[in-house]
Amino acid sequence: MLEPISLFKERYGDLRYFFAPMAGISDTVFRLLMRELGAQCVISELLSAEGLIRGGQRTRDMMQFDDRERPVGIQIFGHQKSSLAEAARIVEGEGADFVDLNLGCPVKKVVCDGGGAAWLKDPAKLGDLLETIKKGLRIPLTIKVRTGWDDSSKNVKEVVQVAAESGVSWVAIHGRTRAQGYCGHADWELIREVAIHSKIPVIGNGDIVTAEMAKKRIDEGYAHAVMIGRGALKNPWIFREILGEKFATKNFIPLIDRHFDLAIEKKDRHRAFLSLKKFLAWYAAGFPNSGKFRFELFQLENIDALRDHALTYFETIPESSKVEDNQPFLMGGHG
Ligand SMILES: Cc1cc2nc3c(=O)[nH]c(=O)nc-3n(C[C@H](O)[C@H](O)[C@H](O)COP(=O)(O)O)c2cc1C
Repeated sequence: MLEPISLFKERYGDLRYFFAPMAGISDTVFRLLMRELGAQCVISELLSAEGLIRGGQRTRDMMQFDDRERPVGIQIFGHQKSSLAEAARIVEGEGADFVDLNLGCPVKKVVCDGGGAAWLKDPAKLGDLLETIKKGLRIPLTIKVRTGWDDSSKNVKEVVQVAAESGVSWVAIHGRTRAQGYCGHADWELIREVAIHSKIPVIGNGDIVTAEMAKKRIDEGYAHAVMIGRGALKNPWIFREILGEKFATKNFIPLIDRHFDLAIEKKDRHRAFLSLKKFLAWYAAGFPNSGKFRFELFQLENIDALRDHALTYFETIPESSKVEDNQPFLMGGHG
């Protein structure tokens, strides 16, 4: 087994289980919920470095976090060294625990500009970028990458070495190339190979959907820590299960109640309403009559009706009725 991440040991303990940054999902509300439900560290969705510098209200809103989330990182992306360095300092000024740099986004618009995974194509240029950001920063710099640009250039080993030499604190690896998008499987053998030889901790990421899978990756030495994204949407209890709790259908009632409370605390009622709708649809995936539940959900017009509908549905579903549908799920994103 590889050592856990001890970067924040004194304040927050060792870190093994991370909740992934996901655009449109990992906002302060859901990150808070994930922390309460056992995730040991959370990272924001990607924020544009240029947007942060311009100081637009929307980007500033997206940078907000709550002390209860700590340790929390803010993720930035961009294509210009000077902008990324300045954005990292803005994140530091906001009091985040670390800055995470997105080097894995496969989305065309981002890579065509030279951001996200495009940085993987030139490790020397990447090293220069990382050193420049690091120089102006007191809080840790971390990165999230893919295994390479495409099958013929899986250079994650070199990228991790460059990162270690540039003073990066850890690397999260989504085990697919940029060209793969979300197809195929995450290459955990490659993640293990890199993690074993890396001078800095490696967080393995990709396709973990059960607590058993997460624990197995740690126990069998695949990475120093693991990161879970989509798996936590279908099973928001996944981190609690890793920590040894047993999920029961009845747990959904307080969980949904809590999600509503946090959403209303952080957003106006209409935005909370819109955001909760999509989470409730994911929570219901795999349970009996979830199609009917989802159909009715999207007819509702206000947050009180939404809460009633959700609580009634989850109260009536029988214990152990979740079926693993193994359907492709959210096959697109920014990392
Ligand atoms: C809807 C969606 C949005 C995403 N947004 C981001 C993002 O903002 N930053 C990032 O680094 N990765 C992003 N990702 C990638 C995830 O962090 C993760 O690497 C990927 O989903 C694989 O892990 P999983 O199989 O556990 O979901 C996103 C993924 C999805 C599905």
